[in-house]
Amino acid sequence: MATGDTREIGTAPDYPAEGREIPRDSRIDASMALLSEGYRFVSNLCDQMGSDVVATRLRLREVVCLRGASAGRLLYGAEGLTRVGAMPSTVLHLLQDKGSVQQLEGEAHRQRKAMFLDICMDEARVKALVEEFRREWRESLTAWEHEDRIVLQQEVAHVLTRAACRWAGVRNEPEDRIADEIFEMIDKAGSIGPRNWLAQMRRSGTEKRLRRLVEQLRGGEVVPDSATALHAIAFHREPDGKLLDPSVAAVELLNVLRPVVAVGRYITFAALALHRETNWRELFRSGNLELAGDFAEEVRRISPFFPFTAAVTTRPIRWEGYEFPADQWLLLDLYGTTHDARNFPDPSRFRAERMLSWSGQDDCFIPQGGGEVALTHRCPGEMITVELMKEAIRLLCCETEYEVPPQDLGVRLNRLPAQPRSGMILKAVRPRAGTEPPLSG
Ligand code: HEM
Repeated sequence: MATGDTREIGTAPDYPAEGREIPRDSRIDASMALLSEGYRFVSNLCDQMGSDVVATRLRLREVVCLRGASAGRLLYGAEGLTRVGAMPSTVLHLLQDKGSVQQLEGEAHRQRKAMFLDICMDEARVKALVEEFRREWRESLTAWEHEDRIVLQQEVAHVLTRAACRWAGVRNEPEDRIADEIFEMIDKAGSIGPRNWLAQMRRSGTEKRLRRLVEQLRGGEVVPDSATALHAIAFHREPDGKLLDPSVAAVELLNVLRPVVAVGRYITFAALALHRETNWRELFRSGNLELAGDFAEEVRRISPFFPFTAAVTTRPIRWEGYEFPADQWLLLDLYGTTHDARNFPDPSRFRAERMLSWSGQDDCFIPQGGGEVALTHRCPGEMITVELMKEAIRLLCCETEYEVPPQDLGVRLNRLPAQPRSGMILKAVRPRAGTEPPLSG
């Protein structure tokens, strides 16, 4: 139903025709609160104001903060929204970047997104990535044996970088260099100032090398392997029938490599959960991995990773009786929605018995976005994420022996992205003796 040129989104029969008032934060600007409260910022605001829709200002820009399933459906599904101009450039340049699928809408988005679905949601391709990960883990394990201790978060990033590069068809990359560059992109995305600029500078070097690789493949200088992400991206055609500009192809290749490496953060949180949830750890160590998927999903729900997502209206819209003018900035609380007691009773307790699943289309379980993956900005990498996490749980429990020495495992919720402070130190890491490793399905 349209009201003048305002588009009505969703069904809201009982709301007043003149529009519902959006509760307003009384502060002139809430940027300092965002810095100090981090992941809890939107939830704190919503709780204080007694509403899941609250207007405030960040860096003096008007923003409406939203929480909950219905707001999730708005940001993942409604027309009249764009991601362009929705994220600070310091975050955008280190993550999705300009020209990427996330910056597109409509037919252009659907066609580019189909390429990602082919790469990320094909079972055979995902299985091949998991096998690369397993091989790299086993190789690293022989090196870890000679170390007194390792920092899991850093080591697993290297393991995943090697696995992702080989799987994606990115050969001849000096492994340490690209691993460090990608790690910095993820680690510094939430920071501002020199550390962020340095990471952006290093990223432009990575992009340049990947662009050259795309050109070499197209020019026949590199032997093509049609099963790789490199091949799919290099020869993907846009709605106008043209190949992607090489620099956009490099950005999209990085949009496959970087998030695979980012899964290492969830793997670190999974190791932390295994350390704390000893019953689950013993069950998995016995070789019974049937519920490893449920465990991984609860790690995705409870661990802080992507705090919010954002969009901007491209025209006036009316949603649940609220009226948003064109160019309204909207911030959706992903972390708060997955930590809301109305959706997940006792939300700060780890309970793998919740039996969550990325494939279940639960509008409250949105750690990587929500809605119909092919048509919205929902992450296409959930299958990869969960399969890599399941394999990591199996490797940690069935193939690896280690001790967890005393360390600071606290997680600061005002550091973006969050991590256990120590990065999860493991001691006396060695292959687990006497077990024939069962392979997960
Ligand atoms: C570490 C685990 C991951 C997290 C926390 C995560 C989180 C997210 C979130 C929240 C979005 C939605 C952004 C928005 O609303 O605009 C997203 C989009 C996206 N993710 Fe992931 N992701 C992860 C893993 C992956 C993986 C493994 C891949 C691919 C290999 C991937 C590729 C993408 C792409 C291409 C988009 C843009 C989709 C679009 O705009 O249509 N992600 N991710």
